[in-house]
Amino acid sequence: MTYTIEQVKALIREYPDFPSEGILFRDIFPIFQQPEAVVCLTDHFVERIKGLGKRIDVVVGLDARGFLFGPLIAIKLGVAFVPVRKRGKLPGEVVDVTYMKEYGEDIFQMQAEGIKAGQNVVIVDDLLATGGSCKAAEELVAKLKGTVVLNAFVISLEGLEGHKKLSAPVYSLIEC
Ligand code: PRP
Ligand code: ADE
Ligand code: MG
Repeated sequence: MTYTIEQVKALIREYPDFPSEGILFRDIFPIFQQPEAVVCLTDHFVERIKGLGKRIDVVVGLDARGFLFGPLIAIKLGVAFVPVRKRGKLPGEVVDVTYMKEYGEDIFQMQAEGIKAGQNVVIVDDLLATGGSCKAAEELVAKLKGTVVLNAFVISLEGLEGHKKLSAPVYSLIEC
């Protein structure tokens, strides 16, 4: 079946009190059980990004769920995909930053060769909560002298005001 973007949104499931009490967890994995829904979602983001009218050099995806969307979007745009990973997973020279997220502290790293000075970057992740993860990714891109032109999410939790932490514009398919 062919999916509309509204039908894709309806696939996302909510789980109260996961992974801890008080968190309403939004699960995007059901989308990936429907290949046509993935195509619809990818195309939606690609159109949004092209609509910026800016040169895009790199799509950066955040470990782990940003890896589901980032490479698909990068392939369709015909640009590089570069991962931001949690500490200790990337070989060679890396840049790193410590960050806080909705439920704990962590370290993000990116390979220093991943972005060259002056490149335009789109950051992609499944969900914006407190904004700690994406802010850290913005900082990694800045350390490598890239420019974030858009932070793109499937979902943003507006009550947590994560967008206020971010320097670049935000696009979210779902604001809730
Ligand atoms: C989750 C989610 C976002 C981040 C959002 O990642 O996928 O990346 O939290 O939270 P924030 O805006 O408060 O930083 P998490 O690292 O928990 O799990 P994952 O490895 O499954 O992506
Ligand atoms: N990451 C941080 N907060 C989350 C939430 N409420 N649902 C899914 N992933 C998350
Ligand atoms: Mg994540």
